[in-house]
This record gives sequence, structure tokens and C-alpha cells, in this order.
Amino acid sequence: MIQYTIVDNMETMGYWAADMVAEQIGRKPDSVLGLATGSTPLPLYGELVRRSEAGEVDFTAVRTVNLDEYVGLPSDHPQSYRYFMREHLFDRIPIDPENTALPDGMAQDLSAECRAYDQLIEKWGGIDLQVLGIGHNGHIGFNEPGSVFTLKTHVVDISERTRIANARFFGDDPQKVPAQAITMGIGNIMAARKIVLLVSGRSKAEILERALCGDVNPLVPASVLQLHPDVTVIADQQAAACIEIPEAAMI
Ligand code: GLP
Repeated sequence: MIQYTIVDNMETMGYWAADMVAEQIGRKPDSVLGLATGSTPLPLYGELVRRSEAGEVDFTAVRTVNLDEYVGLPSDHPQSYRYFMREHLFDRIPIDPENTALPDGMAQDLSAECRAYDQLIEKWGGIDLQVLGIGHNGHIGFNEPGSVFTLKTHVVDISERTRIANARFFGDDPQKVPAQAITMGIGNIMAARKIVLLVSGRSKAEILERALCGDVNPLVPASVLQLHPDVTVIADQQAAACIEIPEAAMI
């Protein structure tokens, strides 16, 4: 089932998403959080840092697993997702680095790394709350159009469209964006007990409508979320422009 919260700015999006994370940690202090990169979750991470500093959320027992990582970027590369997570969250909250997992894009044996990542998620008891963004082509994590819904962690070729979208972080040169990534599969994402999808901006309005109101179809990977029992979509009004939303969902 999909619930909607429609907000009028990014700060409010961060606030509502942080409420969900805080509620999850309050209920289960050693929760496993599935985390995402991209610009959309930044206000969430900012708000979590604020609440942690204010003593409102306790991260000391929390464990995190990120959706994805570029292949070939070391963890100290400023565009690696490990670096992003440290900069925006991990280095600013009292979380044990041992409890923060991302796939290792430098692993010698990438398929062994993928298996190890799945095993870690399993060992930690699965994901309690997964934070997701969405790409303009409907990708979640790096599960690009055409992804098989049952896959677990695997290596993907990043689509040309996504490389162009992410070129802004690589000196505006799509060729500098790594050609591959390791990503949790849709199988991992769908196994999360709860999902919160964050979506912002007019440029995501059409794909959000196709994902949530169209057919469930691997060509729009995020459409699989219609089959999940507990999804909350927090979107701004621009991103929700093509969806009919009940008044009650407007914040
Ligand atoms: C990347 C990430 C996705 C993210 C997407 C959207 O490709 N792999 O997990 O959802 O970008 O990013 P943004 O929030 O910046 O639009």
C-alpha cells in the first residue's frame, strides 16, 4: 500500500522523513536503515544530524546499509558514495563505522562482494526502513530500466541517461561517470519491511506518475513499489503534479 505526504519545500520533506527514521529508531534502537545517495535525501540527513546533536535521536546502535556504490572509485574519492555518506551523515553522528555498510566498488572479485553484501544484510536481520530516491528513468538504487525484479546485489552497467544526469558531479563530463556500479537489487529493496520514497522537482513528475499509477513493469523499476505492503511517498508539489492526491496528504 502506498501512502502519500505532499510537502511544499525540501526542508519539510527532510523533517517528515526524519520523523519516520526517528520513530523507527525509537521503536528499535539497533534498526537496520537502508540509505540512499543523491541530492533528494540531503535535507533528511541534515535534519537527522540536527536531531542527533539535540539528543533527540540515538544512532549508537543503528546499522546502515547503502543501496549502491560506483565500481572503481576508492572510498576516499569525493564522488564515491562512501565519501558522500561520511560527509553528510556518518561523520556527523555517533555511529560506529563498523555499522555503516556500502558495497566496495574496489573489490577484486565483484561478484563475491555482491554475495558478501547480501549475506551481511541477512546477518543483520534485513532492512527495517529503506530510504529511496528515484532517477528520471525510474531507477531505484542503480536498478535501471529492464532490471529483473527478483535480483539481489549485483553489478550493473549504468545507463547513458543516468551517466548524463550524474555528470554534474564529475565536471559535467558523462564519460567521467563510472560505467558500472554495485547495487542492491530490487529483491533486496522489496524485502525491506518499510520503504520511504523521497521525490522532488517538476522533472520527476512524469516518471513518478508512471511509477505509482501506471502498470508494474520492469521498464519502470520503481513501479515495483506498488507491490510492497508499506511504502510512504514524500514528494513536493512539483513532483506530485501529475498524480491525484487526496487533500489529507497535503502538509
Ligand atoms: C543516483 C542514485 C539513486 C538516486 C538517484 C536520484 O543515480 N544511484 O539512488 O535515487 O541518483 O538522485 P537525485 O536525488 O539527485 O535526483
